[in-house]
Amino acid sequence: MHEFKYKRDILFCEEVKVQDLAIKFATPLYVYSWNTFINHYLKLKNAFQEVRPLICYSVKANSNLMILKALVDKGAGLDIVSGGELFRALRVGCPSSKIVYASVGKTDNEIEEAIKSGILFFNVESLPELQNINRIAGRMRKVTNVALRINPVIEPKTHKFITTGKLTNKFGVDFKTAADILDNGGSLSYVKIKGLHIHIGSQITIREPFVAAIKKVVDFIGVIKKKGIGIEYLNIGGGLGIIYHNETPQTADEFAKKVLPILKRCGLKIIMEPGRFIIGSAGILVVKVLYVKKTRDKKFIIVDGGMNDLIRPALYDAHHEILPLENTGYARSNREKVDIVGPICESADFFAKGRVMAKIKERDYLAITCSGAYGFSMSSNYNSRRRPAEVMVRGREVYLIRERESYSQLLRNEKIVKL
Ligand code: LLP
Repeated sequence: MHEFKYKRDILFCEEVKVQDLAIKFATPLYVYSWNTFINHYLKLKNAFQEVRPLICYSVKANSNLMILKALVDKGAGLDIVSGGELFRALRVGCPSSKIVYASVGKTDNEIEEAIKSGILFFNVESLPELQNINRIAGRMRKVTNVALRINPVIEPKTHKFITTGKLTNKFGVDFKTAADILDNGGSLSYVKIKGLHIHIGSQITIREPFVAAIKKVVDFIGVIKKKGIGIEYLNIGGGLGIIYHNETPQTADEFAKKVLPILKRCGLKIIMEPGRFIIGSAGILVVKVLYVKKTRDKKFIIVDGGMNDLIRPALYDAHHEILPLENTGYARSNREKVDIVGPICESADFFAKGRVMAKIKERDYLAITCSGAYGFSMSSNYNSRRRPAEVMVRGREVYLIRERESYSQLLRNEKIVKL
């Protein structure tokens, strides 16, 4: 459930008219609902309360400091993948004992910074990485905790760019390699293997792949326990799908009902890393119609937001529902098929193709829904466009949580040198 709803044909975010925000802060504009993402976090937490999981929100989904802070204030930990995300996590006061760090390509500097700050553990993705962490930790004389990321070889039935648990993916190690590493656990004196980690992909809308992956890893834990190898944590990753269009993903409760019995069997401390489930439907991108352009074959609605602001349609052919901020054009006769496109010089710069919508006019505002996850965080300055402002709504209150970039910020790091 999210808090973007029509009240007498006017789109509201919680108690605030979205159009008022568009006028006040200009467009393109990201708008987030505090109550929506906090509720999603609490739903997951409550569904899994029997195992009291540590929910480490996946920072990459949306890394705005206020969103991180709001979740950390509610007790969430953070799942990070870079030195920059560590910097953000520490800036919002996330206890380092609640930070887990994945990524197949951690640099020496990033490893050193994370060890220094005392994170809960690294999710280690390969043997060379494990050896490197051991080397750096040794140099720093600081024993460091890690979890081994296992690639459970599962087909998650999602977009090919966002599967991570198949043999052809670069992530994690297979069970055989994991067993070898654990057998030799003692040989690396500065790393302690404290846990196992899986994450099989993103926007997974069926439960079978999760259940299969968790079962596989719990069976594996049984085998290593028999060998006398003890670990403390099982991190089951993120990946829970949401409703963009007509998907029917499992709810937090349905998911918990299926996997809790398996998780309880292993008796380990449970960590989860949801991103999209928490923030996906809690954000919209508001854009303004600049021109309505008719060609012989098509009608283009050209808006002021582009693929640099929200790249998901261009990159994954992702479907986002698009709603007018004023829903007055019900009449069926009024409907027409349009392409909704941005101003960028690429044909991939679209938000919808062949979408049937109530008639749209120049200067109308549109909301591109479910843009809270992997929206702003994947935005860029392509075409020298300034990245949008972000506002957060809580009840009647509105907070500007990121200003629109300025032209001088665009040039901030560039230098004109004397040749
Ligand atoms: N943990 C790990 C190790 C991950 O790699 C990811 C996401 C997550 C957790 C969070 O997954 P979530 O709960 O959000 O599905 N840009 C793509 C999604 C890429 C996901 C990358 N990894 C998109 O816009 O669909």
